[in-house]
Amino acid sequence: MSLAEKKQAIIDQYGEWTNHNMHLGDGLYTIASDPTPSEPKLRRMTQVVMDHFGGSVEGLRVLDLACLEGMYGLELARQGASVVGIEGREANLAKARFVRDVWGLNNIEFFQDDVRNLSSEKYGTFDVVFCLGIYYHLDAPDVFKFMDQVASVCTRLAIVDTHVSFTAEEQHHYNGLEIWGRNYHEFDAEMSQQEREKILWASLDNPKSFWLTRPSLFNLMGQVGFTSVYECHQPLVQKFVEMRRANLNDRATFVAVKGQSVQLRSSALSNNTPGSLWTEAV
Ligand SMILES: C[S@@+](CC[C@H](N)C(=O)[O-])C[C@H]1O[C@@H](n2cnc3c(N)ncnc32)[C@H](O)[C@@H]1O
Repeated sequence: MSLAEKKQAIIDQYGEWTNHNMHLGDGLYTIASDPTPSEPKLRRMTQVVMDHFGGSVEGLRVLDLACLEGMYGLELARQGASVVGIEGREANLAKARFVRDVWGLNNIEFFQDDVRNLSSEKYGTFDVVFCLGIYYHLDAPDVFKFMDQVASVCTRLAIVDTHVSFTAEEQHHYNGLEIWGRNYHEFDAEMSQQEREKILWASLDNPKSFWLTRPSLFNLMGQVGFTSVYECHQPLVQKFVEMRRANLNDRATFVAVKGQSVQLRSSALSNNTPGSLWTEAV
């Protein structure tokens, strides 16, 4: 069977690739040989990791959560990292595994699992955790605990690419933190399991998700152990710029570092007190 025929067999069984455009070889791509919106995002995430680790990911362990068709993890595997991808839907995973096999990679493993089952006991720990396009698909209270789970398996860098809420409409409490945000509709609660399986980008079983406000997200990320958190603006992702222009600027790439809380030497006044919390007043 030719490569094109093998690709077609995957499409016949699981449907077209929906987002991750990758070059299979001989000019054949998973989606298109013209640029798609997926390349700028891949460049951003890969650049952030490379910049943080001095230009090489050789030997690092990388976790790609809710990996869809696997592109981010597959790229890092090609760059020399040892990668684990977790994804809930078989139709997405089959495409990721197909590309892995076409490229002959043996340093990336894919597991069909619910990301809410994440733990270091089950998957080990990772230098880099990609939490891309999944955080805003989880509902309260799972979404709060999930940030704790991400931090617990992360030894260095987590990239959280997510929607945030502009409005503080509903309040929750988690480990003593006040957390604000709003609900987001995922799918109709009456929808059958079979129908949900087919919405390839949606949550697995929660009909709504909970989007945190920026202040609440930052407070939570600090509390679970990230010692510094940044927002990435470069490399540019054109799709996000268009959202910003349309006043839908609720999507951001946050880069969180799991370091050691610094002990100041010039003034010790703050060394034993926890950092201040963000407030919702914006
Ligand atoms: C919007 S897509 C983002 C995929 C990819 N990380 C990216 O950034 O391109 C959301 C993905 O999360 C998966 N997903 C949603 N809820 C999940 C869960 N609880 N456990 C595992 N995968 C989940 C979906 O099947 C889908 O592949």
